[in-house]
Amino acid sequence: MDGRELVRSMKVVGSVQGLRAVRSAWRQRRTDAREPAPRGPERARVPGPVTGAERMPGGGTVRFARAELHVCVAVGGAVFWGWDGARPLPSYALDEAPPEPDPRAGLEPDKDGGWRVVSERMTVAISRHGGVEVRTPGGVLLRRELPPRWWERAPGGPARWVQRSEVPADARFFGLGGRASGPRLRDGTYRLWNTDPGGRFGPDDDPLYVTMPVQLVVADAGTHLAFYDNSWDGRVVLREGEEGAGSGHDRPGRSELRMDGGPLRCWVVTGTPARVLHAWTALTGAPTPPPAWALGPQHARWGFGSEREVRRIVAGYRERDLPLSAVHLDIDHYDAHQVFTVDRERFPDLPGLAKELRADGVRLVSIVDPAVKAERGNAVYDSGSAVGAFVRDGRGREVRGVVWPGDCVYPDFTDPLVRDWWGGLYEERLAQGFAGVWHDMNEPVSFAPFGDPTLPRSARHRLEGRGGDHREAHNVYGLAMARAGFEGLWRLRPEERPFLFSRSGWAGMQRYGGTWSGDVSTGWPGLRASLSLVLGLGLCGVPYSGPDVGGFDGSPSPELYLRWFQLGAYLPLFRTHAAIDAGRREPWEFGAEVLAHARAALVERERLLPYFVTLAQLARLTGAPYVRPLWWGTPEDRALRDCEDAFLLGDSLLVAPVLEHGVEQRGVRLPNGRWYDTATEEAYEGPGQILLDAPRSRIPVLARAGAVIPVQDEDGGRVLEVWAPADGRPGGGLVVRDPGDGRREPEVERYTSRLVDGEVVVERVGHDGTVEPEWEVRVRGTRPVRRG
Ligand code: GLC
Repeated sequence: MDGRELVRSMKVVGSVQGLRAVRSAWRQRRTDAREPAPRGPERARVPGPVTGAERMPGGGTVRFARAELHVCVAVGGAVFWGWDGARPLPSYALDEAPPEPDPRAGLEPDKDGGWRVVSERMTVAISRHGGVEVRTPGGVLLRRELPPRWWERAPGGPARWVQRSEVPADARFFGLGGRASGPRLRDGTYRLWNTDPGGRFGPDDDPLYVTMPVQLVVADAGTHLAFYDNSWDGRVVLREGEEGAGSGHDRPGRSELRMDGGPLRCWVVTGTPARVLHAWTALTGAPTPPPAWALGPQHARWGFGSEREVRRIVAGYRERDLPLSAVHLDIDHYDAHQVFTVDRERFPDLPGLAKELRADGVRLVSIVDPAVKAERGNAVYDSGSAVGAFVRDGRGREVRGVVWPGDCVYPDFTDPLVRDWWGGLYEERLAQGFAGVWHDMNEPVSFAPFGDPTLPRSARHRLEGRGGDHREAHNVYGLAMARAGFEGLWRLRPEERPFLFSRSGWAGMQRYGGTWSGDVSTGWPGLRASLSLVLGLGLCGVPYSGPDVGGFDGSPSPELYLRWFQLGAYLPLFRTHAAIDAGRREPWEFGAEVLAHARAALVERERLLPYFVTLAQLARLTGAPYVRPLWWGTPEDRALRDCEDAFLLGDSLLVAPVLEHGVEQRGVRLPNGRWYDTATEEAYEGPGQILLDAPRSRIPVLARAGAVIPVQDEDGGRVLEVWAPADGRPGGGLVVRDPGDGRREPEVERYTSRLVDGEVVVERVGHDGTVEPEWEVRVRGTRPVRRG
């Protein structure tokens, strides 16, 4: 037991739940210990020298003395390679079938006995010892994979492996799922094992709830995304490169990936950041857009405790004229913490409450935990047992863990029949009047004072019929649960797009919904971590997320609460939430000044709703996250790659939150082009660094010259806010109107803006030429220009 475990055990021991957790942790240890130990010595293997190759559409197979490599460039430009027979399927990440091979590409002999595949977007070169290089069409190196190494006890048996890679010396790493210390991933070790940090986390806690073997690498040579499609436990060690290191030579950036098992296979997509995310979401699925109401302000709390309290909170918003679009009920509204139940004493008429709130424009969202109390008479346990839904150990016994309701069992979401059964259970939630769901504790968690707070590694899973154990299923547990919930809700209510977000997940989770920060600790470092998570997840294809505004635990100072609120107002999921024993989080609990400024943030969020709807639809169509790092459009601007305290919201806005105590002015690094401070309408020319006021009343937000931003006025009227384009530099923007909560395919409207004789002209690009916009146009930004 190490120091951290000791603290964990001190916290839980003493309560009944604590004793349960201790017992369960021992049980987990015993379950794993019962598994037969692997026999025989482990032998290391490398591919060895090349022996031949076979051409196939899109690429082919290259044979080495002790391994075989399959390479294939797919239509659309993504390249796949897999060792020792690994192919794109089966995969939890891919959306349906993988793309077809590109018939124009094929293996050709390369210099020094190697092979290569040349395609429109990249060249893949395979060295005669099994190294793989990805180059731009112009021949510049983006990524070099050194020959991999496996360790196995028998030829063809299960193997652990390591893959070392090099990237250009100037490259920066991003991604790997949700990381609190990013978005730029500095030198260090990052584990790939979805983990509940237990209680709360700050920037130093790693891993967290959503990990993914997805690296987004930005370098002068270009941007690429590498995805090692393998859900096993693993570790990535990153080391940034250095230009002109030792005797003037560049030291490349390095990544070393070690996996405990599973296939060694990789997808790489290259291009601009926008192209890379488009290709990535084409591969793993379009991000499902939330309904428009889920882009409005939301309020959650663990421990409302009663319908009366929910009414009090909603009335608090109304009385103060604060917009609110949803309230989230946590586990305290369950009967004894059991999923798919209601505490009828404290919440006697949920459907009635839901109806009443709905009339007031407020939806109810429900938490859904995967663990089911293991007790006969609990309807969910009984119906699940009847269909054999729960995860079992090697001896065929249900695996027990401990979560909020006590001793629990875990549905095996990697079984399609279990997903069906579970999806049907959401009928109860719909009948209670809930409009959306919030999946929690699905890493999955089993409280444990020592050891891993999850299921035993030897627990068996169906894995779509292939069979396997928790080492492979763990990281996709939350993803598969999201699929069960999403598909269940669609089935039950085909006319409404499900609203779902999930604490844990994996590559491809955007097909079913979004995520949130989890239990981010209250404090300035937690505020910074909140932004890191949203940015990093967006670059992994998961655009809808946001933090617990104000932090999960404790009590934020009024200043911290306000700055969190102001940041949250520009993030896709804008929700306050806090633990049962945390201080208040209502905007009116921090004094009149905070209330006034929080109101301004809420009102601005409401005003920007049509823009958020547009961003949600564009994320679906293009994979571009709403919240993007500053380098998104100009990855060659190195200063921007290291800028982590500001972000782009879509193409049009640049948001510079205050992330430090006492700050009322801040530096903002601008990408190229002209930018307007939206508060003063003063114009600045980027690239460069400027200093802007950040009084308590607001955070700096800049608009790009020429931007066309859909907004709504106080009466809900549609307005195009147009920021004056610079002379000779036309601008424009895309607008997608809310298609409603169903499946309707919305139309994308394209607008252009330009300066003609000092006047701003805005036009909609129609099928046959340009037309007048249907929206009212308001031009802003006509002050003299300052240099950035
Ligand atoms: C977990 C969640 C948190 C929730 C709590 C009780 O800690 O991350 O959001 O309030 O469980 O359900």
